[in-house]
Amino acid sequence: MKAVVLTTPCGAGEMMLTDVPVPEVRPGWVLIRVKAFGINHSEVLLRRFEVSQPYIKKPIIPGIECVGEIADASDSRFGTGERVMALMGGMGRSFNGSYAEYVLVPASHVFAVDSTLDWGELAAIPETFYTAYGSLVQSLQLDRRDTLLIRGGTSTVGLAAIQLAKAMGARVVATTRSGRKGEMLRRCGADDVVLEGEGFGRRFLEKYPAGASKVLELIGAATLRESLGVTAVHGIVCHTGLLGGVYGLKNFDPIKEIPSGVYLTGFYSNTPTQKQIDGMMRLIEEEGIRPVIARRYGFGDIAVAHELAEQRGQTGKIVVMV
Ligand SMILES: NC(=O)c1ccc[n+]([C@@H]2O[C@H](COP(=O)([O-])OP(=O)(O)OC[C@H]3O[C@@H](n4cnc5c(N)ncnc54)[C@H](OP(=O)(O)O)[C@@H]3O)[C@@H](O)[C@H]2O)c1
Repeated sequence: MKAVVLTTPCGAGEMMLTDVPVPEVRPGWVLIRVKAFGINHSEVLLRRFEVSQPYIKKPIIPGIECVGEIADASDSRFGTGERVMALMGGMGRSFNGSYAEYVLVPASHVFAVDSTLDWGELAAIPETFYTAYGSLVQSLQLDRRDTLLIRGGTSTVGLAAIQLAKAMGARVVATTRSGRKGEMLRRCGADDVVLEGEGFGRRFLEKYPAGASKVLELIGAATLRESLGVTAVHGIVCHTGLLGGVYGLKNFDPIKEIPSGVYLTGFYSNTPTQKQIDGMMRLIEEEGIRPVIARRYGFGDIAVAHELAEQRGQTGKIVVMV
């Protein structure tokens, strides 16, 4: 089969398809014929630096998610030809991932999908929509009375969260650092847009004096303290993203810095369940949600697709059709 194989850090242009054996099926693992996959920033980091870390299997086929059909169900509950998505659990990091024509994945990280989306659209769903859905439903317990603030609204996860939160009936306020992206956020469903940057907290509270009842924090530790300060009493802040490039809070004093009655939680997409995937797909189907796709590439154009992902200027998911 054709696959991308990495052993050392490299530039996007050095990524190429090579011939490797189709993985051998073993108990507890399922072989998927990959139809398409989305590109994630973590795969850009893997290629540029992280591949040299000892905890990454080498050589490694990258790719933390994909959609496709069951080629060999092994001893699992799946049937041959069944439409599935697979994500996370060490995929493309501790075992070979989805930048390939076939991928062998633990059955626990493979999920049946019932959807009218085409393969390209479906490929934009697993990691991005599951992260947004899990943050909103499991961590933020979002409901239609909520005013949800999404910091980093133009990110792929942010756009998915806007679509899902609107489908759930909440009022959505999204942020961006760029005034020219406001219109796109509104087209995607945001009720209001507030600019990031100096004075954000004051600007937000002038418009929403009661604060946000829920906050999806995709910029991360860089703006987390400020997010806690614009959250209503009994509101929840969910720390899901790290777009601001700050990976932890120094000298964080929970007693003084989490306002009394405000809750702080997080979300990690590593352990999806079939029940969650079913709930997410039902919402997508019933509400006619179509993921925002930046571009679709053929597998042979993987280098160009990675180049675009590395620039991080795109709006929506970059998808590769295998
Ligand atoms: N917790 C989990 O399990 C999980 C799973 C998946 C992803 N994530 C995280 O979720 C975040 C979003 O991922 P993504 O793939 O959707 O990102 P993405 O699409 O690459 O996000 C790009 C957007 O991020 C914004 N941005 C970039 N640098 C920024 C900065 N320094 N400060 C504020 N905004 C900045 C830009 O928005 P503007 O130019 O419009 O401001 C840009 O449009 C990432 O941090 C990712 O690591 C977490």
